[in-house]
Amino acid sequence: MNIRTFNRDKFRKNSVKVTYYGHSCFGVEIKGKHLLFDPFITYNEQAKAIDVKKVKADYMLISHGHEDHIADAVTIAKNTGAKVISSWEIVNWLKGQGVENGHPMNIGGKIKLDFGDIKCVTAQHSSSFPDGSYAGNPMGFVVESTDGNFYYAGDTALTYDMKLIGEYRKINFAFLPIGDNFTMGVENAMIASDFINCRRIIGMHYNTFGYIKIDTKEAVDKFQKSGRELMLFGIGETRTMN
Ligand code: NI
Ligand code: MN
Repeated sequence: MNIRTFNRDKFRKNSVKVTYYGHSCFGVEIKGKHLLFDPFITYNEQAKAIDVKKVKADYMLISHGHEDHIADAVTIAKNTGAKVISSWEIVNWLKGQGVENGHPMNIGGKIKLDFGDIKCVTAQHSSSFPDGSYAGNPMGFVVESTDGNFYYAGDTALTYDMKLIGEYRKINFAFLPIGDNFTMGVENAMIASDFINCRRIIGMHYNTFGYIKIDTKEAVDKFQKSGRELMLFGIGETRTMN
C-alpha cells in the first residue's frame, strides 16, 4: 500500500445508515455494526409491517424503562445476542429475564467499543418499569466514531445541559423527541438544535398515540424556515446520513 492509498482509506468517511422502526426506535449502522435504540415494535400498531425477528442489533441502547422504549428488548436481545447498554437498573432487570449480555452505565460515563464510543448524557424525564418499579435515571446517548458523531436524546424536556453536548463534540445529526406532552415539542426541539449546535434533526416520539399527535407538515416547515432540517422517516425507511 502506498502512502496515498493509506491516507485515502484512513480518512474516507463511510456512510452511517439510519432505519426507523416507529416511535423512538431506530437502527443505526455504523462501521458495519448495528446499534438499536429503544425497541418498541410489536406493541406499536403503526409498526405492524416490521418483523421483529429480522431487526439486527450488535448493541442495544435503552434510554429508560418506560414500556414504549423497552417492550421488545428481551425478545430482540435474545434473538440477536446484542450487548445491551443502559442504566444499572435496566441492565439488571433484563438480566432477571435471561438477558445476560448487558453493560450497565450511568450519566456522564463513556464506553469504548469496536465501532466508536458511547457517552451517557442527561435526559430530563422519569424512568420506571412497566410494573411501576424504579428503573434508574433516564438518559440520552452521544455516539462518536471516525465516521461522525450523533446524539440520541431519548425522552427529555429541553434542558440547558444540551449546551454541554454541543460544546463537547461536533454533532452531525441528532434524534430529538418532538411529540410534546411527555417530552419537548417542536418549538423546544428547535431550541435544542441550537444548544447542540446541530441543524439536522431526526424527529421521534410523535404521532404514535393520541397524547403526542402533531401536525408534521407544520413541524417540517418551522424547521425549514429557520434554516434547520427536520427529517421524518417512514416506518421501515432507511436513509444514509452522510
Ligand atoms: Ni418515557
Ligand atoms: Mn416515551
